[in-house]
Amino acid sequence: MPVDETVSLLTEGYAWLPDRRRRTPTVRTRLLGRRAWCIGGVGAARYFYDEENVRRHGALPEPVLSTLFGRGAVHTLDGEEHRSRKEMFLSIMDPAGVADLTERVVDVWDQTLRPGRMVLFDEAGRVLTEAVCDWAGIRVAPADLPALAADLIAMVDGFATAGPRHLKARIARRRREKWLARVADGAVVDVVAKHIEDPHVRAVELLNVIRPTAALSWFVTFAAHALHRWPEHRESLAAGGDYAVAFAHEVRRFYPFVPFLAGLAARDLDWLGEEIPEGSLVLLDIHGHNHDPELWPDPYAFSPGRFLDRAIGPFELVPQGAGWADDGHRCPGEGIAVSVLAALSERLARLDYEVPHQDLTISLRRVPARPRSGFVLVVPEKPV
Ligand code: HEM
Repeated sequence: MPVDETVSLLTEGYAWLPDRRRRTPTVRTRLLGRRAWCIGGVGAARYFYDEENVRRHGALPEPVLSTLFGRGAVHTLDGEEHRSRKEMFLSIMDPAGVADLTERVVDVWDQTLRPGRMVLFDEAGRVLTEAVCDWAGIRVAPADLPALAADLIAMVDGFATAGPRHLKARIARRRREKWLARVADGAVVDVVAKHIEDPHVRAVELLNVIRPTAALSWFVTFAAHALHRWPEHRESLAAGGDYAVAFAHEVRRFYPFVPFLAGLAARDLDWLGEEIPEGSLVLLDIHGHNHDPELWPDPYAFSPGRFLDRAIGPFELVPQGAGWADDGHRCPGEGIAVSVLAALSERLARLDYEVPHQDLTISLRRVPARPRSGFVLVVPEKPV
């Protein structure tokens, strides 16, 4: 019987699964006391996203539900119940909704940017929180915005650890679920209320709109990191358009964020001769997929050009899941992520700022990873 590797996973972070998969493509292990099979690659992604093979209900452990997603979240549903809840999310995030939210983010960014020193990770979190609440029609007093932004970030920051960060994430979720259960109206609130009766699940799903939007601060910070390390992209990025979109895709591919996805074997499975008993954990390697040299030549080179003038297949670039958003669990917020990230990256490329000496190390042991300093930048006073 394989030994339980929960502690190794918590200490090795992003390297844990790709390292083991280098030795054997399908890894048999044990996590949180459960037998687990870890798979990866395009074929594995197709297999994982087939509902006949992998279901989601019961797959996510309590520490992840109590911090990142919430109980009763769309992430935990299967079949018809999932399809109907997912339709609700997709109706909120149609192209007009994406364009409207992007415009609000850029407006808040332009209006709040002041000369002086800022920690980009924190600043982006506040900007995104203000814009998404405004977009969703959730009223937040300006004085409460920093605390709300900090709670949304904490829920993501603490889902994969066992220490104080995790406790902070639990407290943040409890506080914000209570708060959102009392929110009575607003455009997105109305859509959610029409679909879901239970006020707790309503609050959970409202958080599943505003929390991941605030979490785009991770990608925005990575974008600044990439511009700092490879300034040769600045000029093309500042022109916006297709290059900004390609840059956003490369940030999502290159930098570590989601390590893997979890489901349960829906029946006794046979994956490339490997027998996986019904009910076992099945993990799909996401970080490894986004750095697979068979899909991405020279995967550790940051190269937005790889996304210019080409379509992206449904099982190719998977930082936000694979397959199709309307027929599976792929992230419905990918349009928002790409559009907002492209717009803010373009803004950063046009902004005149200095990067003082700081610790920009990105530890792959910390999930979710980010530059240690949060990326400090200094915007100079405009000359009079
Ligand atoms: C699902 C990543 C932004 C809403 C997911 C999944 C991933 C992901 C990996 C799971 C896919 C699966 O289980 O197969 C990300 C990342 C984001 C991001 C890295 C950037 C920060 C967003 C945004 C929204 C959003 C902006 C909404 C405004 C959701 C929802 C689900 C989901 C509701 C559940 C979908 C389902 O289970 O059917 N996301 N996401 N995400 N995401 Fe995102």
